[in-house]
Amino acid sequence: MKITIVGAGKVGSQLGRKLFAVGHDLVQVFSRSMEKAETLAKELGADFTNDLNRITAGADLYLLAVPDDAIRDVATYFAHHKFQEKLVAHTSGATPITVLTGQDIERCGVFYPLQSFSLGKEPDFSQIPFCIDAKRPDDLVLLKNLGAQLSPKVFEINDHQRAVLHIAAVFANNFSNHLYHIAFQLLEKEGLSFDLLLPLIRETVEKLETAAPAAMQTGPAVRGDEETIERHLRYLKSYPIYQEIYQRLTESIQAPEHQVT
Ligand SMILES: NC(=O)c1ccc[n+]([C@@H]2O[C@H](COP(=O)([O-])OP(=O)(O)OC[C@H]3O[C@@H](n4cnc5c(N)ncnc54)[C@H](OP(=O)(O)O)[C@@H]3O)[C@@H](O)[C@H]2O)c1
Repeated sequence: MKITIVGAGKVGSQLGRKLFAVGHDLVQVFSRSMEKAETLAKELGADFTNDLNRITAGADLYLLAVPDDAIRDVATYFAHHKFQEKLVAHTSGATPITVLTGQDIERCGVFYPLQSFSLGKEPDFSQIPFCIDAKRPDDLVLLKNLGAQLSPKVFEINDHQRAVLHIAAVFANNFSNHLYHIAFQLLEKEGLSFDLLLPLIRETVEKLETAAPAAMQTGPAVRGDEETIERHLRYLKSYPIYQEIYQRLTESIQAPEHQVT
């Protein structure tokens, strides 16, 4: 396919490289910064621009990898220009397809890779679930086939399911990562290394392959070790937000609906 990448950030760069690697023709790269657009475009043998008005109609697919809040504005541009016959897909978990359909874009879809992308680290695409949606059945097939070239894990996921998936991903990834940050800070303050926790973290994640999270919960909350919990809360007195998080998570772990019988 001839593909234009709109947004040369974390997702645009990694998806662009992978699509190029599996043989697609990358036509153009857009980024607001010319330097970013040019750097990625050179890797992909594509043209580049930092001006939406200079995006050409030469591609079959326009992948919008811009921040969630910018998708509507960029989509407005596609709706009002010469792209009526082209497929426009965004890459966001949190954004409904209606942001595109609402702009009267006839051929539109979602191509959401459910992974956390960083600029420096090449992702293992074979492990990434691709959540696909499209307004037209033929575009759904096209995007599913494209996803299948990048990963064996391709799923048709509608707006509601994707919104819930995204909330779940915030809990599983963003919030758990923030809890690691809290742990890091507490240890650092006492001159201890976060490395001490890495085997525990790895073991916990590995066990998720074989057991439901609630079934392998350990620690003072699930055991009901109230004196330990009180001691922890006293230690956290000088960190009111951490103390509150500890208290709330303890309550959540102890809630009857989360107990495994
Ligand atoms: N990051 C992830 O782990 C991840 C995972 C799955 C899906 N997604 C989704 O992928 C999309 C892109 O996320 P990202 O993390 O790749 O973002 P990012 O790294 O911040 O890159 C955003 C790109 O969009 C451009 N841009 C920023 N604001 C814009 C605007 N108002 N109008 C036009 N272009 C604008 C940026 O240009 P300049 O940088 O040159 O200013 C940059 O090229 C989002 O919808 C996000 O939800 C992200």
